Amino acid sequence: MPVPREEFLSNVWRDGIFSNKVIFCTGGAGTICSIQVRAFVALGGNAYIIGRNAEKTEKMAKDLETARRGSRVIGHGNVDVRNAVALKEAADRCVKELGSLDFAIAGAAGNFLAPMSQLSPNAFRTVIEIDTIGSYNTAKAVLPHLVKSAKTYPNTGKHSPAGTGGRMIFVSASFHFKGQPLQAHAQAAKAAVDQISNSVAIEYGPYGITSNVITPGPIANTEGMERLAKLDGGAEKEHAKIIPLGRWGQVREIADATIYLFSEAGSYVNGNILVVDGGQWRTSGAG
Ligand code: HXC
Repeated sequence: MPVPREEFLSNVWRDGIFSNKVIFCTGGAGTICSIQVRAFVALGGNAYIIGRNAEKTEKMAKDLETARRGSRVIGHGNVDVRNAVALKEAADRCVKELGSLDFAIAGAAGNFLAPMSQLSPNAFRTVIEIDTIGSYNTAKAVLPHLVKSAKTYPNTGKHSPAGTGGRMIFVSASFHFKGQPLQAHAQAAKAAVDQISNSVAIEYGPYGITSNVITPGPIANTEGMERLAKLDGGAEKEHAKIIPLGRWGQVREIADATIYLFSEAGSYVNGNILVVDGGQWRTSGAG
């Protein structure tokens, strides 16, 4: 007897899988997060993006709205993820303006290359506050809404006519898996981000919520890699030699990983770290 298609293959990457669903994303004007949101919007969703720079955030929101006719994207600038109250207000406003908050990405980050000898206590604290505390603040702001969304779209695993809702992704890194110079601050911050995701997975799993981490490796045409490559004086081709797949990643590959975790295909993936780096961390630890 043939196995029904829905039992072995999810209906993913289909237009409309996120229809009427809303994603809330911090760092949404940055290269990595904006491509994650763009993919979500292209598949039918609406979005609410948060950023520190108002002009950049509002401009990006307008641009993201073009990903699909009829989708709405709101850019909310002047919000610093270090400010828990402002984040909560933003999450509430997202629901008021767009009707719900079903998916979330904690993506805002701050980083620079510096040896520990040049890293002041305030510099270390700043990155911890943006990455770690900021991710925690984001989780606190969105989780009550994700709980409601998960109730509306029960994550039964049996059927999912559309994107399930109640899903969260933290954007982290892989350099702390093995260790890398000039990144003492970011490594400590991102290790903690991974653990926050795990805590959400464990404590909110019973509500039908999934929480996972995506760790982008070297992705071409991103702000992070442009800054890294410049500071290293290294070219993409030279650096790619240490990556098993022999190339930098494409932003699309981060989008695809995101859609996988947010779609029906990822409904049983919880408390995981999805490393999207061509296998680099296995060889060098960088990411
Ligand atoms: C050493 C530095 C430094 C540097 C800042 N500081 N840059 N120390 N080397 N290159 C120190 C400052 O001197 C200060 O310490 C403390 O850090 C706080 O700096 P502020 O400028 O006051 O902080 P703030 O305005 O909040 O800016 C945060 C930031 C900044 C992280 C420092 O770079 C930022 O806003 N970045 C956002 C965008 C971003 O970083 N995106 C990258 C994400 S991509 P003192 O002691 O002097 O007070 C990514 C991939 C890897 O992470 C990229 C690697 C480069």
